[in-house]
Amino acid sequence: GKGNYRHFMEKELHEHPAVLGDTLRQYLDPRTLEVNLPRLPFDPARVPRITMTACGSAFLAAQVGRYWIEQLARIPVDADVASELRYRDPPLAEGGAAILVSQSGETADTMAAMKLLREKQQSILSVVNVPESSMARESDATVLTVAGPEIGVASTKAFTAQLAVLACLAIGLGRARRELTTLDEGVLTKALLEVPHKAAEVLEQDAQIKALAAEVASARDVLFLGRGALFPIAMEGALKLKEISYIHAEGYAAGEMKHGPIALIDNQVPVIALCPSGPLYEKTLSNLQEASARGGRIMAFTDAAGAPGLARFAERVIVLPEVGVFAQPILYAIPVQLLAYHVAVLKGTDVDQPRNLAKSVTVE
Ligand code: F6R
Repeated sequence: GKGNYRHFMEKELHEHPAVLGDTLRQYLDPRTLEVNLPRLPFDPARVPRITMTACGSAFLAAQVGRYWIEQLARIPVDADVASELRYRDPPLAEGGAAILVSQSGETADTMAAMKLLREKQQSILSVVNVPESSMARESDATVLTVAGPEIGVASTKAFTAQLAVLACLAIGLGRARRELTTLDEGVLTKALLEVPHKAAEVLEQDAQIKALAAEVASARDVLFLGRGALFPIAMEGALKLKEISYIHAEGYAAGEMKHGPIALIDNQVPVIALCPSGPLYEKTLSNLQEASARGGRIMAFTDAAGAPGLARFAERVIVLPEVGVFAQPILYAIPVQLLAYHVAVLKGTDVDQPRNLAKSVTVE
């Protein structure tokens, strides 16, 4: 049941810390600070290329995974939605690997993409939440997310669990390819191990996020901006908002603003920025300043080090706990999902069963 929560989605949002802890505990050892993955169906040291595919939120998790794997393991990664990949007929060399991401393990397009990838002799690893699902059964190997059943149609805890698994996978691949030293691995796994309790701190900021939701609820359009591995998280914020509150939203790479979407900016369009401190902070900040100079209402999620720069022009700054740059996408997914939840509640939509949507899309 829902326990003391109003909706399954609210309950599931509050399960982020536990689910992240449970998932990370499976694949990394807090004592040695090392990643331990199940046996992979390909040799990471030799794999020439990885194709990642999924649908919806799972695809956004895959996109974060792509940033991580390319950065840490230096393996070229292609990521495409399954409904495109299956008809794209991509040239794939024998000996390549594919990573599928799915909560249900039953999504028709992802299953069809798996069939195509198999025909092209790719080894198939799936990141799945349902161990007895078709995808888990038919893959060469599976890394399970430990999110438990997800009832709300909009994915929440399964998404962050997918990120946690992909983060461990990226580290494991980086080590296998000798791109990471033991020291690097320790820094990265330490950052990940901090995520569950920092996730709990984010949830304690519920009242602030609710106040932000009150501003967003009256908007017709909302833009979410981020850079690097936070760009897919901006898209996740936009997807969740569209899905459950029916407000039109778009997630954009902050650097793309000036190539078109900045024309939308006026004082009616909230711009939700994911702008924590780190190597891309200054770049994102200057994109946001440009939007602000055109009347945009900037609402930023950042950390203590990032707050002063934003406070000069942003209408609202929500300060999240500090976490290693590598782990930021996992932590920043939580407030954007929570924001969508509160906006939907304010609008009175059916949060757990949004119109026209099904939990598991088993037809094309
Ligand atoms: C978004 C959402 C959907 C699913 C997508 C894939 O909140 O829930 O976009 O992520 O339908 O489903 P799975 O992960 O079951 O393959």
